[in-house]
Amino acid sequence: MAVDMKGKSLLSIADLTLEEIEQIFATTEMLKLQKKTGQPHPILAGRTLGMIFEKPSTRTRVSFEAGMYQLGGYALYLSSNDLQLGRGETIADTTRVLSRYVDGIMARVFSHNTVVELAKYGSVPVINGLSDMEHPCQILGDLFTAIEKKGKLAGLKMAYIGDGNNVCNSLLLGCAKVGMDMAAAHPRNYDPPASILDEAKKIAKKTGCKIKVSSDISSALDGADIIYTDVWTSMGQDAEKKERLKAFSEYQVNEKMLKKAKDDVIVMHCLPAHRGEEITDEVMDGPHAVVIDEAENRMHVQKAILALLIR
Ligand code: CP
Ligand code: NVA
Repeated sequence: MAVDMKGKSLLSIADLTLEEIEQIFATTEMLKLQKKTGQPHPILAGRTLGMIFEKPSTRTRVSFEAGMYQLGGYALYLSSNDLQLGRGETIADTTRVLSRYVDGIMARVFSHNTVVELAKYGSVPVINGLSDMEHPCQILGDLFTAIEKKGKLAGLKMAYIGDGNNVCNSLLLGCAKVGMDMAAAHPRNYDPPASILDEAKKIAKKTGCKIKVSSDISSALDGADIIYTDVWTSMGQDAEKKERLKAFSEYQVNEKMLKKAKDDVIVMHCLPAHRGEEITDEVMDGPHAVVIDEAENRMHVQKAILALLIR
């Protein structure tokens, strides 16, 4: 039976049950097919999404905007600098007011607490379009891509090589939820937060998969079906770029690394990539990479999320 997700917010992958994730993927499959076969699907006609951005974006902005248009709705780009938010109006007042104008809010923010407050004081669904803690829409697009490429999620092994950042956090929670083993390799002091790791391990215990975090690249890659990486310096960390380049120098995803995983390994990256740093051109442009499919699937998955939360 369908799960009712209407009116819910999506701030963290942990907010979703496995049934809800499966429902998002089933809806994604349907909407992707409708788009590919040219069938109009204006199920959000007359609905408006407000999109607050505190940070730059290519994929998130364009995929939400194009997605809302395809659903018959309208998306409003709101740079935080152009809102009164940038001049000291509180998040609570902003979201109370926006909730009277729009049917949903998507926000890309620095502090995760901002999306929490937007949801707490607003009365429409809030979707996290990336915070310092999580990037749930990205990971849902990635897991959908993994199903397309591998035919399943439970029982696969994901090797995440790189920074214990927002993308890694959502992957840990997402893999745990769907029963996929995840081994993350980070340099020391770049681990994901203990709170996320504890939660992912708790979920994994129930779903019967393994979550491991270490600095051991070879053991992470051993038997991996998917290799995932992300930038070493995330948005807002530019002052640390030099020391991060040094700390992560051994963690570049290159051809040598691919040889340590399964022969049919796929390589994922949320993009934007810093080619020559966390990943080589050879791998990005090689036959194992599925990075552009992931970027495309962001749109289809987000359309499903919008349809389920707002319709
Ligand atoms: N992956 C992702 O969120 O890309 P953008 O920063 O371009 O939105
Ligand atoms: N970890 C990266 C992801 C970009 C989509 C960042 O936060 O900048």
